[in-house]
Amino acid sequence: MQICRTIAEIRAAVAHMRTAGTVGLVTTMGALHAGHMALIKAASAHPNVVATIFVNPSQFGNASDLNSYPRTEDTDLAMLKQAGVTTAFIPSVGEIYPDGDETIVETTNLANMLHGLTRPGHYRGVATVVTKLFNIIGADAAYFGEKDYQQLAVIRTMVRDLHTPVAIHGVPTVRETDGLAMSSRNVRLTPADRSAAPILIASLTAADALLKSGETVETTIDAIAATIASQPLARLGAVDIVDPITFAPATGKPNGPVGIMISATFGDVMLIDQKEVTP
Ligand code: PAF
Repeated sequence: MQICRTIAEIRAAVAHMRTAGTVGLVTTMGALHAGHMALIKAASAHPNVVATIFVNPSQFGNASDLNSYPRTEDTDLAMLKQAGVTTAFIPSVGEIYPDGDETIVETTNLANMLHGLTRPGHYRGVATVVTKLFNIIGADAAYFGEKDYQQLAVIRTMVRDLHTPVAIHGVPTVRETDGLAMSSRNVRLTPADRSAAPILIASLTAADALLKSGETVETTIDAIAATIASQPLARLGAVDIVDPITFAPATGKPNGPVGIMISATFGDVMLIDQKEVTP
Protein backbone atom coordinates (compact mmCIF):
# COMPACT_ATOMS: atom_id res chain seq x y z
CA MET A 1 0.00 0.00 0.00
CA GLN A 2 1.35 3.37 -1.04
CA ILE A 3 1.26 6.26 1.45
CA CYS A 4 0.98 9.81 0.11
CA ARG A 5 1.26 12.92 2.27
CA THR A 6 1.17 15.69 -0.33
CA ILE A 7 -1.35 16.72 -2.98
CA ALA A 8 1.27 16.28 -5.70
CA GLU A 9 1.96 12.69 -4.56
CA ILE A 10 -1.70 11.62 -4.39
CA ARG A 11 -2.50 13.21 -7.76
CA ALA A 12 0.39 11.31 -9.36
CA ALA A 13 -0.75 8.09 -7.66
CA VAL A 14 -4.36 8.50 -8.85
CA ALA A 15 -3.20 9.28 -12.40
CA HIS A 16 -1.27 6.01 -12.36
CA MET A 17 -4.23 4.07 -10.85
CA ARG A 18 -6.53 5.30 -13.60
CA THR A 19 -4.63 3.16 -16.08
CA ALA A 20 -6.01 0.17 -14.11
CA GLY A 21 -9.62 1.42 -13.88
CA THR A 22 -11.91 3.38 -11.60
CA VAL A 23 -11.13 4.79 -8.14
CA GLY A 24 -13.29 4.42 -5.01
CA LEU A 25 -12.72 6.83 -2.10
CA VAL A 26 -13.26 6.51 1.64
CA THR A 27 -12.58 9.68 3.64
CA THR A 28 -11.87 9.19 7.35
CA MET A 29 -10.48 10.98 10.36
CA GLY A 30 -8.60 7.83 11.37
CA ALA A 31 -9.17 5.85 14.59
CA LEU A 32 -10.50 3.20 12.24
CA HIS A 33 -13.00 0.54 13.28
CA ALA A 34 -15.25 -2.05 11.65
CA GLY A 35 -17.58 0.70 10.41
CA HIS A 36 -14.77 2.18 8.31
CA MET A 37 -13.83 -1.30 7.11
CA ALA A 38 -17.39 -1.72 5.79
CA LEU A 39 -16.88 1.47 3.76
CA ILE A 40 -13.58 0.13 2.40
CA LYS A 41 -15.27 -3.16 1.51
CA ALA A 42 -18.00 -1.29 -0.39
CA ALA A 43 -15.37 0.87 -2.16
CA SER A 44 -13.53 -2.30 -3.17
CA ALA A 45 -16.08 -2.69 -5.96
CA HIS A 46 -13.49 -0.49 -7.72
CA PRO A 47 -10.09 -1.86 -8.75
CA ASN A 48 -8.40 1.00 -6.86
CA VAL A 49 -9.32 2.32 -3.39
CA VAL A 50 -7.98 5.52 -1.85
CA ALA A 51 -8.53 6.04 1.89
CA THR A 52 -7.80 9.40 3.51
CA ILE A 53 -6.88 10.00 7.13
CA PHE A 54 -7.24 13.65 8.12
CA VAL A 55 -8.53 14.99 11.43
CA ASN A 56 -10.24 18.05 10.03
CA PRO A 57 -9.93 21.03 12.40
CA SER A 58 -12.69 23.05 10.72
CA GLN A 59 -15.45 20.62 11.73
CA PHE A 60 -14.69 20.71 15.47
CA GLY A 61 -16.48 23.24 17.65
CA ASN A 62 -13.69 23.61 20.18
CA ALA A 63 -9.99 22.87 20.62
CA SER A 64 -10.47 20.32 23.39
CA ASP A 65 -12.76 18.14 21.24
CA LEU A 66 -10.22 18.40 18.39
CA ASN A 67 -7.24 17.63 20.63
CA SER A 68 -8.92 14.68 22.34
CA TYR A 69 -9.93 13.07 19.02
CA PRO A 70 -8.14 9.68 18.97
CA ARG A 71 -5.10 9.46 16.68
CA THR A 72 -3.92 5.92 15.87
CA GLU A 73 -2.06 6.24 12.57
CA ASP A 74 0.08 3.08 12.80
CA THR A 75 -2.89 0.84 13.59
CA ASP A 76 -4.98 2.60 10.95
CA LEU A 77 -2.37 2.00 8.26
CA ALA A 78 -2.09 -1.69 9.20
CA MET A 79 -5.90 -2.02 8.92
CA LEU A 80 -6.00 -0.26 5.54
CA LYS A 81 -3.19 -2.44 4.21
CA GLN A 82 -4.91 -5.59 5.46
CA ALA A 83 -8.13 -4.48 3.75
CA GLY A 84 -6.31 -4.17 0.42
CA VAL A 85 -6.45 -0.36 0.07
CA THR A 86 -4.35 0.82 -2.88
CA THR A 87 -3.23 4.16 -1.44
CA ALA A 88 -3.60 6.05 1.85
CA PHE A 89 -3.59 9.85 1.72
CA ILE A 90 -2.52 11.42 5.03
CA PRO A 91 -2.07 15.15 4.48
CA SER A 92 -0.97 17.74 7.04
CA VAL A 93 -3.31 20.55 8.08
CA GLY A 94 -1.14 23.00 6.09
CA GLU A 95 -1.50 20.88 2.93
CA ILE A 96 -5.30 21.04 3.10
CA TYR A 97 -5.63 24.57 4.52
CA PRO A 98 -2.67 26.51 3.04
CA ASP A 99 -1.78 29.97 4.37
CA GLY A 100 -4.41 32.49 3.31
CA ASP A 101 -7.11 29.80 2.85
CA GLU A 102 -10.46 31.61 2.97
CA THR A 103 -12.95 29.55 0.95
CA ILE A 104 -15.76 27.64 2.60
CA VAL A 105 -18.45 25.33 1.25
CA GLU A 106 -21.81 25.32 2.99
CA THR A 107 -25.18 23.77 2.30
CA THR A 108 -26.82 26.82 3.81
CA ASN A 109 -30.12 25.25 4.85
CA LEU A 110 -29.21 21.66 5.64
CA ALA A 111 -26.05 22.54 7.58
CA ASN A 112 -27.88 24.79 9.99
CA MET A 113 -30.82 22.65 11.06
CA LEU A 114 -31.25 19.57 13.29
CA HIS A 115 -27.81 18.37 14.53
CA GLY A 116 -26.32 21.49 12.91
CA LEU A 117 -28.08 23.63 15.54
CA THR A 118 -26.18 21.94 18.38
CA ARG A 119 -22.92 21.82 16.38
CA PRO A 120 -22.60 25.27 14.74
CA GLY A 121 -20.11 25.26 11.83
CA HIS A 122 -19.71 21.47 11.90
CA TYR A 123 -21.35 20.64 8.58
CA ARG A 124 -19.69 23.66 6.92
CA GLY A 125 -16.34 22.19 8.01
CA VAL A 126 -17.32 18.75 6.68
CA ALA A 127 -18.56 20.12 3.34
CA THR A 128 -15.42 22.23 2.93
CA VAL A 129 -12.94 19.44 3.63
CA VAL A 130 -14.84 16.83 1.61
CA THR A 131 -14.98 19.22 -1.37
CA LYS A 132 -11.21 19.73 -1.08
CA LEU A 133 -10.62 15.97 -0.91
CA PHE A 134 -12.91 15.35 -3.91
CA ASN A 135 -11.04 18.03 -5.89
CA ILE A 136 -7.64 16.65 -4.92
CA ILE A 137 -8.36 12.98 -5.55
CA GLY A 138 -10.93 13.01 -8.35
CA ALA A 139 -12.41 9.63 -7.39
CA ASP A 140 -15.26 8.09 -9.37
CA ALA A 141 -17.25 7.18 -6.25
CA ALA A 142 -17.11 7.93 -2.51
CA TYR A 143 -18.56 5.91 0.37
CA PHE A 144 -20.01 7.37 3.60
CA GLY A 145 -21.67 5.80 6.64
CA GLU A 146 -25.44 6.13 7.06
CA LYS A 147 -24.92 6.64 10.82
CA ASP A 148 -23.95 10.25 10.05
CA TYR A 149 -27.34 10.69 8.42
CA GLN A 150 -27.26 14.47 8.13
CA GLN A 151 -23.61 14.45 6.97
CA LEU A 152 -24.52 12.06 4.15
CA ALA A 153 -27.38 14.35 3.12
CA VAL A 154 -25.08 17.41 3.25
CA ILE A 155 -22.55 15.65 1.00
CA ARG A 156 -25.20 14.46 -1.48
CA THR A 157 -26.64 18.00 -1.62
CA MET A 158 -23.28 19.71 -2.12
CA VAL A 159 -22.25 17.24 -4.87
CA ARG A 160 -25.57 17.84 -6.62
CA ASP A 161 -25.33 21.63 -6.33
CA LEU A 162 -21.64 21.92 -7.29
CA HIS A 163 -21.97 19.36 -10.13
CA THR A 164 -19.08 17.40 -8.63
CA PRO A 165 -18.44 14.32 -10.81
CA VAL A 166 -18.44 11.70 -8.05
CA ALA A 167 -21.08 9.09 -7.18
CA ILE A 168 -22.02 9.11 -3.47
CA HIS A 169 -22.92 5.82 -1.78
CA GLY A 170 -24.36 5.39 1.73
CA VAL A 171 -23.28 2.29 3.67
CA PRO A 172 -25.41 0.85 6.51
CA THR A 173 -24.29 1.42 10.12
CA VAL A 174 -22.10 -1.29 11.65
CA ARG A 175 -22.94 -2.05 15.30
CA GLU A 176 -21.27 -3.64 18.31
CA THR A 177 -22.93 -6.85 19.54
CA ASP A 178 -25.02 -4.82 22.02
CA GLY A 179 -26.23 -2.54 19.22
CA LEU A 180 -24.05 0.52 19.89
CA ALA A 181 -23.18 2.12 16.56
CA MET A 182 -19.44 1.91 15.83
CA SER A 183 -17.79 5.31 16.24
CA SER A 184 -14.24 6.52 16.75
CA ARG A 185 -15.58 8.35 19.80
CA ASN A 186 -16.62 5.11 21.57
CA VAL A 187 -13.06 4.55 22.85
CA ARG A 188 -13.37 7.76 24.89
CA LEU A 189 -16.37 6.44 26.87
CA THR A 190 -15.73 5.40 30.47
CA PRO A 191 -16.70 1.75 31.17
CA ALA A 192 -19.91 2.96 32.86
CA ASP A 193 -20.79 5.25 29.95
CA ARG A 194 -19.98 2.47 27.48
CA SER A 195 -22.48 0.23 29.29
CA ALA A 196 -25.07 3.02 29.23
CA ALA A 197 -24.64 4.02 25.56
CA PRO A 198 -26.81 1.21 24.01
CA ILE A 199 -29.77 3.24 25.33
CA LEU A 200 -29.49 4.99 21.94
CA ILE A 201 -30.31 1.87 19.91
CA ALA A 202 -32.89 0.83 22.51
CA SER A 203 -34.72 4.13 22.03
CA LEU A 204 -34.53 3.82 18.22
CA THR A 205 -35.83 0.26 18.27
CA ALA A 206 -38.74 1.28 20.50
CA ALA A 207 -39.46 4.26 18.24
CA ASP A 208 -39.47 1.99 15.18
CA ALA A 209 -42.11 -0.22 16.85
CA LEU A 210 -44.22 2.79 17.88
CA LEU A 211 -44.28 4.31 14.39
CA LYS A 212 -45.06 0.91 12.83
CA SER A 213 -47.94 0.45 15.28
CA GLY A 214 -49.48 3.71 14.06
CA GLU A 215 -48.29 6.14 16.75
CA THR A 216 -47.65 9.74 15.76
CA VAL A 217 -44.26 11.39 15.32
CA GLU A 218 -44.94 13.60 18.35
CA THR A 219 -45.69 10.63 20.66
CA THR A 220 -42.63 8.82 19.31
CA ILE A 221 -40.33 11.79 19.97
CA ASP A 222 -41.65 11.98 23.56
CA ALA A 223 -41.05 8.23 23.98
CA ILE A 224 -37.45 8.51 22.73
CA ALA A 225 -36.78 11.41 25.11
CA ALA A 226 -38.28 9.41 28.02
CA THR A 227 -36.20 6.32 27.19
CA ILE A 228 -32.98 8.34 27.11
CA ALA A 229 -33.97 10.19 30.31
CA SER A 230 -34.39 6.79 32.00
CA GLN A 231 -30.61 6.29 31.69
CA PRO A 232 -29.01 8.61 34.28
CA LEU A 233 -25.63 8.70 32.47
CA ALA A 234 -27.16 9.96 29.21
CA ARG A 235 -27.98 13.61 28.44
CA LEU A 236 -30.27 13.98 25.44
CA GLY A 237 -28.95 16.39 22.82
CA ALA A 238 -31.54 16.30 20.06
CA VAL A 239 -34.23 14.02 18.72
CA ASP A 240 -35.76 14.64 15.31
CA ILE A 241 -37.95 12.67 12.96
CA VAL A 242 -37.61 13.95 9.42
CA ASP A 243 -38.40 13.40 5.78
CA PRO A 244 -35.36 11.42 4.55
CA ILE A 245 -34.97 13.53 1.40
CA THR A 246 -35.83 17.09 2.44
CA PHE A 247 -35.04 16.70 6.16
CA ALA A 248 -38.21 18.70 6.88
CA PRO A 249 -39.70 17.68 10.26
CA ALA A 250 -42.28 14.91 9.94
CA THR A 251 -45.57 15.34 11.80
CA GLY A 252 -48.60 13.24 12.71
CA LYS A 253 -48.80 9.71 11.31
CA PRO A 254 -46.23 9.49 8.50
CA ASN A 255 -47.40 7.86 5.28
CA GLY A 256 -43.90 7.15 3.96
CA PRO A 257 -40.37 6.56 5.24
CA VAL A 258 -38.95 8.85 7.93
CA GLY A 259 -35.49 9.23 9.43
CA ILE A 260 -35.10 9.28 13.20
CA MET A 261 -31.99 11.16 14.34
CA ILE A 262 -30.79 11.30 17.92
CA SER A 263 -27.79 12.64 19.77
CA ALA A 264 -26.89 12.22 23.42
CA THR A 265 -23.86 12.97 25.56
CA PHE A 266 -22.19 10.51 27.93
CA GLY A 267 -19.64 12.29 30.12
CA ASP A 268 -18.09 14.66 27.57
CA VAL A 269 -18.58 12.33 24.59
CA MET A 270 -21.37 13.18 22.19
CA LEU A 271 -22.76 10.20 20.25
CA ILE A 272 -25.25 10.15 17.40
CA ASP A 273 -27.37 7.42 15.92
CA GLN A 274 -30.17 7.13 13.39
CA LYS A 275 -32.72 4.75 11.94
CA GLU A 276 -34.84 4.96 8.83
CA VAL A 277 -38.34 3.62 9.39
CA THR A 278 -41.15 2.90 6.98
CA PRO A 279 -44.30 2.94 9.18
O1 PAF B 1 -17.27 11.24 8.84
C1 PAF B 1 -16.10 11.60 9.02
O2 PAF B 1 -15.23 10.83 9.48
C2 PAF B 1 -15.70 13.01 8.67
O3 PAF B 1 -16.73 13.91 8.95
C3 PAF B 1 -15.22 13.18 7.23
C4 PAF B 1 -16.32 12.84 6.22
C5 PAF B 1 -14.02 12.28 6.99
C6 PAF B 1 -14.81 14.62 6.95
O4 PAF B 1 -13.75 15.02 7.78
